[in-house]
Formats: sequence, C-alpha cells, structure tokens
Amino acid sequence: MDRIAIVGGSRLKGDIAISGAKNSAIKLMAASLLTDEPLRLTNMPRLADTRFLANLLRRLGTEVVETVGPDGPQTVLHTPEIVSSFAPYDLVRQMRASFNVLGPLLARTGHAKVSLPGGCAIGARPVDLHLKALEALGAHIDLNEGYVYAQAPRGLVGARIEFPFSSVGATEHAMLAAVLARGDTILVNAAREPEMEDLAECLNAMGARVEGAGTSEIRIRGVARLTGASHAVIPDRIETGTYAVAAAMAGGEVRLTNTRADLIETLLVKMEEAGVEVERRNDGLTIRRNGARLQAVNVETDVFPGFATDLQAQFMALMTMAEGESVVKETIFENRFMHVPELARLGADITVSGGEARIRGVDTLQGAPVMATDLRASVSLVIAALAAKGETIVNRVYHLDRGFERLEQKLSACGAEVRRISGPEDGGD
Ligand code: UD1
Repeated sequence: MDRIAIVGGSRLKGDIAISGAKNSAIKLMAASLLTDEPLRLTNMPRLADTRFLANLLRRLGTEVVETVGPDGPQTVLHTPEIVSSFAPYDLVRQMRASFNVLGPLLARTGHAKVSLPGGCAIGARPVDLHLKALEALGAHIDLNEGYVYAQAPRGLVGARIEFPFSSVGATEHAMLAAVLARGDTILVNAAREPEMEDLAECLNAMGARVEGAGTSEIRIRGVARLTGASHAVIPDRIETGTYAVAAAMAGGEVRLTNTRADLIETLLVKMEEAGVEVERRNDGLTIRRNGARLQAVNVETDVFPGFATDLQAQFMALMTMAEGESVVKETIFENRFMHVPELARLGADITVSGGEARIRGVDTLQGAPVMATDLRASVSLVIAALAAKGETIVNRVYHLDRGFERLEQKLSACGAEVRRISGPEDGGD
C-alpha cells in the first residue's frame, strides 16, 4: 500500500485548482439511476470513492464512461434498464454513500435489496433516518442478515417528512426517492449543506420539481419520469478548506481556483481571527501568511453554514502550532478525534475529554511515521507535516485517495516537498 512522505518547512507559493465535490458527485451519480437517458456530469473528481460507486452502478445496469471533455473531467452515466436491484455488501462496504442507490432503485423499479453500510471509523453512523424517510414515502422495509429489502410495487407516494435533526445523507436520499413519487413531498428540518442545492439543481435539470434546497424546508412535486441532462458538480468545499488550512500552516501565498469562498466562509473567518490573510475573489480565494505566529482560536462543529465537521481535523492541525490554547468541539460525530494520537506523535500537545479537544500550541513539530485513520483525519497529518521539522511518513494513504485527487501533485506544484512511495507499508492491518 502506498505511503506519502513529506519534508516540512517549505513555504507554499502557487495555484491549486479545486476539484468537483466528492460528497456531491457520488449522490449525483446515484441520481443517474432515476432515468433511462444519459446524465452527463462535468467537473467530476477522479477519486477512489467515485470509482467504487461506478463499479456498483455498472452491476446495476449503468454504462459509465469517463472522459475529458471541453469543461475538464466528465462522466456520462446511462442506465437504459436496471438489470439488478441488488447492491451487495462487498460493494457498499467500500463506500458508505453507496447506500444512497436504495432510493433511486426503489423509485425506478419498485424494489431493491441493498446492504446496510455498517459502522465506520467516525462513530456508529446509523441509517435509521434514511429508512424512515423511505417508509414515509410508502416503501415497505425489512431488515434481514445485514440487508435492507425495500418494496413499493405500486410506486412511492409523496409525504411530509420531518427529520428529528439535520442529516445530509438522509435529506439527499429522501430527495432522490421523492422526485419520482406520486404527489407532493415536504422535507422539514432538511440539511442545508450546499450539496443539497447541487443535487436539486441536477434533478431539476433532469425534469424534477424541487424547491427550497439549501433551506430547511424542501418541497418536491413528484413527476412521472426524468430525462437526461448535463450538470457541473459544485466545487469541493472540504478540499478548498483543506488547502486553505495547508497554506496557512506552511506559510506563503496560495491561490485556490475553480472554487467559491462562500462555501467555507465560517472557516475563513476563524482563519482570519487566527491571523491568516484571506482574499476572496470571484473565482476562488487567496491565502497568505508571512511568518508571524498564528493565535489560538476556538471552533465548534455544526451543520452548514456552521464549521464543517469535515474540516475539524485540519483546523486542529493548524492550531497545534498557534500561540495559546484552543478548544475544538465536535458535535456532529462521536469518536472523530482519531487524528489526535497521530498528531501527538509529531509533538502536538492535545488532550481530549468527551467531545472536546484542548490544544496547547507548541513551538515546533517534529516529523515522524504516522498512520492515516480516516479520510479527513489523514489529511490533517499531511497539514501538520508541512510545518514539521524533518520527514513525516503517512501510512495507509488509501484513506486520502478516497477523497483527495492528486494531493501530492497539487501540493508539490506549490513547492511542498511531498512524494508518494509505492509499495507495502510497514505494519499493515
Ligand atoms: C455527510 C458527508 C460527511 C460529512 C457529514 C456531515 C457524504 C458522503 N458524507 O455524511 O463527509 O461529515 O455529511 O456534514 O456526503 N444520523 C443518524 N441517522 C441517520 C443518518 C445520520 O443518526 O439515518 C446521524 C449521524 O450519525 C451523525 C449526524 O446524523 O451524527 C449527521 O450525519 P449526516 O449529516 O447524515 O452525515 P452523512 O450524510 O453520513
């Protein structure tokens, strides 16, 4: 398995083009199951997670063609017919969001058998809200031997669905199922993340009637069929935030292009409070830091537009060398501090108690071998390594490859000393 070696201490200077959002792309790919016509997705990220889902979709009957078009990387997904409504454990387990094929399969064919995604490294992550939403739309759901058996032989029927709390995955899943239901659906207390608007925009281009995405109430008027369409994937706000923090950690000046500052405004305000210079532009943003030590700042994760849980580990890495003590509070997922012991291996001074981490800034970090534990946690180790003395080796890079496209090329193009080492890692599972 590959590893990434980083020698810290280089300041960054240059441009980084942000890819399309992974978390949006995989839901948009699932949306392609809703029509027998081709769906063309542009600004597509090329990641392990999109490959996992493409493999599953091929099993279900989708022709997936990846090319580089005039607007960059694109994927055309075409499912003339669903040849199987069965999503096996082996394929769903590789990538949790594969579970979101359940709603489209059910909406299009009236039945589906999809593996439960199982637990994951950042907590229990149940799918009860997804299933309740489908039941509200009239599906009959049975759970047996790790599989969801869903039936709606006479089609789904619109309903009012009130979520007890905001869930990105469940809101998207309900949207994916309700667009082809008979009648009207209202999603109350819906997630407001920008990916909701992206999915709604794509579904509407396919002929759906979705209103209010991006607010806490989404209204959907069911239609009898959807058509093909072309849609550009929204920029990845987590990748944007990650490189913004990386630039701040290493120092220097980095222009992030093909993205939008408003997607990470809460992070940017916190970075400015810490002493980072942020310039917001029409096509992205520029991050500058010239030597001065950053100040400790507290953050608490929250649903959008609050501080994204997917940027928590990266921000914590930034705070490891800030002046003073900062508190990082995680409110979305339990057990999302797996990066803490690894950051400690680099010399960070962090104590965790419950959902709170207390970070006392240190003067220097020292490179060391560390282990990636999940997608966002692993990139926080890369960020810390950019400012650490000496070499850091990040093992288990497959976590990074799930969500960051060409990370080592993007960073080294700005002057970071980052290289991939192919081959077996030390240790292993
Ligand atoms: C998505 C993102 C993930 C991000 C998260 C929060 C994708 C592929 N992943 O995950 O990167 O960290 O949003 O912004 O888009 N919950 C339940 N029951 C459910 C569903 C969720 O209890 O049926 C809980 C979860 O355990 C968690 C909270 O709700 O505590 C929020 O999770 P949710 O917003 O659903 O996150 P995901 O869609 O899984």
